[in-house]
Amino acid sequence: MRENFDIIYDRKNTDSVKWDCADRFFQGAEVLPMWVADMDFQAPREVTEAIRLRNEQGIYGYTESMPESFRAAFANWVQRRHGWAVRPEWLCHTPGVVPALYTAVIAFTEPGDRIMIQPPVYPPFCSIIRENGRQPVLNPLKIEGGRYVMDFDDMERQMKSGVKMLILCSPHNPVGRVWERDELLHLGRLCLENDVLLVSDEIHADIVFAGRRHLPAASLSRLIEQKSITCMAASKTFGLAGLITSTAIIPNPQLMARFHHQLQVMGLDSGNVFGITASLAAYRHGEEWLEQLLKYLAGNLLFLKDFLAEHIPQIEFILPEGTYLVWLDCRKLGLSPRNLSAMLTEKAKIGLNEGTAFGCEGAGFQRINIACPRSILQECLQRLERAVRSESGQQVQSRQ
Ligand SMILES: Cc1ncc(COP(=O)(O)O)c(C=O)c1O
Repeated sequence: MRENFDIIYDRKNTDSVKWDCADRFFQGAEVLPMWVADMDFQAPREVTEAIRLRNEQGIYGYTESMPESFRAAFANWVQRRHGWAVRPEWLCHTPGVVPALYTAVIAFTEPGDRIMIQPPVYPPFCSIIRENGRQPVLNPLKIEGGRYVMDFDDMERQMKSGVKMLILCSPHNPVGRVWERDELLHLGRLCLENDVLLVSDEIHADIVFAGRRHLPAASLSRLIEQKSITCMAASKTFGLAGLITSTAIIPNPQLMARFHHQLQVMGLDSGNVFGITASLAAYRHGEEWLEQLLKYLAGNLLFLKDFLAEHIPQIEFILPEGTYLVWLDCRKLGLSPRNLSAMLTEKAKIGLNEGTAFGCEGAGFQRINIACPRSILQECLQRLERAVRSESGQQVQSRQ
């Protein structure tokens, strides 16, 4: 069945963080929200139908957080889509990937321990480390040959001076890299040599574009598998983020026991009736929908690329290999991060994510979410074009 991703759903007044809480994040401005990583598409029909059927009974008692049916459907998905044969006993329910990262940091490190991250990167990585009194160790990505790559010399040097954990973002939010086998093997080898626990956030694993393949970092060697925690979810893939359901894959039984104990201690081990129902239906029946979604997103990317090249060539980006997030390089506009944000919210009236939230490497960048009907993306870009023109007009006038 052909999906129609062009349909616009009115998400206002649904307590949507993206649509109803934007004014809180954008100084009261009424913006077109293109920020938080949340899609404006309806989930696959099989998912909404499974929720409807589960809802019919009207009884919402405590639920098994990791039923056998879910373990089997999840393992099947990971094997089929990512080529990793995960065993049912390696799986642990988590109420979202961010809570899973908190749990891992608290379970496996002590206050003061050093944890490596690779900015620019999803902002909670740094805040989770800091809020728990651990120290972030920054291993910034660098640009080589027109793409973001890891700085392995710096990684090795810093690991040698004592790092307990590395939180990897794979595929990478916001730069959109889908890490390759050699890169992941290099990273895995350095983790093993330096006794660093690998925590791999693979929430964007399913959103990769043609010609690319997501490789779970832990799947590449038995040794890395035993020293890793991998976080995955159906939430980004199928638009289920509000159902607060994700899965940690932990092949090492000692690590699993400690992680699970920490979840219990924090009262985070319960499942959500609808989260499990929806994720199960998505893993079982969502593949065809996902294939169509990926094509639509690729079309949006192309639309963005062509529009910017034709109308706002000062804004550039490196084509993402995965994720529906695009890391816009706005430095040629010549605005400070503060003035850039003011121009976007006050003049263009669009809500993007400000680059420095991802680390100081993000100065002059903004992140846009393209998981929306193309007409919304077009509206956003037209607003942006008008604002950039008016801003450059003002700059010319003020120079005269
Ligand atoms: C890399 C990454 N990890 C985790 C999350 C959030 O995960 P959850 O909503 O499951 O806590 C996001 C959301 O944007 C993300 O981009």
